[in-house]
Amino acid sequence: MKFPDTFVWGAAASSYQIEGAACHAGGGLSIWDMLGRQPGRIANGDTGDIACDHYHRYPQDVDLMARIGLQAYRFSVSWPRVLPQGIGAVNQAGLDFYDSLVDALLEKNIDPWITLFHWDFPYDLYCRGGWLNRDSADWFADYTGIVVDRLSDRVSHWCTLNEPQVYIQLGHVEGRHAPGLQMGMREALLAGHHTLLAHGKAVQAIRQNSKQRAWVGATNTGSYYMPDSDREVDIEAARKRNFDFVGRHFFNNTWFADPMLLGRYPEDGVELFAADMPPIAEDDLQTICQPLDYFGANIYFGHYGRAGSDGEFEETDKPDLAHTEMGWPITPEVLYWGPRFYYERYGLPVVITENGMAGADVDDADHIDDEKRIRFHHAYLSALARAVEDGVPCAGYLLWSIMDNFEWAEGYAKRFGLVYVDYASQRRKLKNSAYWYSHVIAGNRLHDDRPLELACAGTEVATGLKRESA
Ligand code: FCB
Repeated sequence: MKFPDTFVWGAAASSYQIEGAACHAGGGLSIWDMLGRQPGRIANGDTGDIACDHYHRYPQDVDLMARIGLQAYRFSVSWPRVLPQGIGAVNQAGLDFYDSLVDALLEKNIDPWITLFHWDFPYDLYCRGGWLNRDSADWFADYTGIVVDRLSDRVSHWCTLNEPQVYIQLGHVEGRHAPGLQMGMREALLAGHHTLLAHGKAVQAIRQNSKQRAWVGATNTGSYYMPDSDREVDIEAARKRNFDFVGRHFFNNTWFADPMLLGRYPEDGVELFAADMPPIAEDDLQTICQPLDYFGANIYFGHYGRAGSDGEFEETDKPDLAHTEMGWPITPEVLYWGPRFYYERYGLPVVITENGMAGADVDDADHIDDEKRIRFHHAYLSALARAVEDGVPCAGYLLWSIMDNFEWAEGYAKRFGLVYVDYASQRRKLKNSAYWYSHVIAGNRLHDDRPLELACAGTEVATGLKRESA
């Protein structure tokens, strides 16, 4: 299965999950640093203090990306590394780090895709109310302007926010992620509104400050529903379920994306939240709804089902589905239906900004055998290829993750990487999936006949190098 010539193959990571060295060279604290200091919050007492030490080891990591043949690398900038208090004085050393990373990537022909917020909110601004403070939108836009001013001579791909659904729900309602709050819906909706305003203002800041034509989007995630037959009634039931608002929480596909792209909150959601709705100033929705260039989607799994007797979606019980180490079911078709339904509603080209799986990977041989991951990506990408064939414009695929990293509240136990990281020694080693991915990228296609053979051949096509550990 061939992908379009313009299709971008890449991988992703985020600042707090790999960099380590928080507060190093003048940076400030983030809410994730502070959550890690609270006993019992993160599995095994892990923290992101060192993580993959990418802050110091980025040249080696960029070399690994080049060996795999990545065309793009999605990473995030740590807001408090650039602005230790979140606003005010700039930490030049922090900006310098990203400047050097961008140069290192470009030198290897890897396009930097920058996410401006991937959850490491500045602690000082959290103490001033965080996203509850309406000023947070301007704080974020000012920070964005600073980063764009410094890097946009070389960077053209920007993403404002990563998954508002998750950091508002898990961080502000359920308390499982930083900042660890369990607020009522009224306050969470207010924080959500401000983060949307921050998105809108950041898009404006990017367009105003960029030194070249910028390609701007945001990354959303949600709950995905798929028909388990090709009957039109089942497809329609799944389509409707994807965009219906069910349940007083943020794990849905419309609450954040509709204001960003359609300029309004979904009516059924507004009805459900009723008295808890935040005050919305006259121009807010206009500010939030800025023209975007792509729809960033993080898609990991979905729910299969079909139309019940009343035509509504009914989930089908699938007891035989395999699961990843996160406990997430493996449902490849979600990479067909997710992009298709998003495209139908929002009309933008879709970029899969994250997709991947945690595996029980062990480094006990000269190679790391992660066959399950290869099968996972092969199956998911086959579904994405079908979406492309059926006319859904998919611009790229950024695999989560380039390397094993700090998986938030789960700590280091969940390994998502193409590259294995031995945290004690900080040694890196390509997993078999990295060899496999290298073949896919080089051929711009899936090798349907023998995906595993290729992975085990031990050759990276992109560079022709033989297997070796880093
Ligand atoms: C997503 C996050 C990313 C990573 C993956 C597994 O929700 O954006 O940082 O944790 O899940």
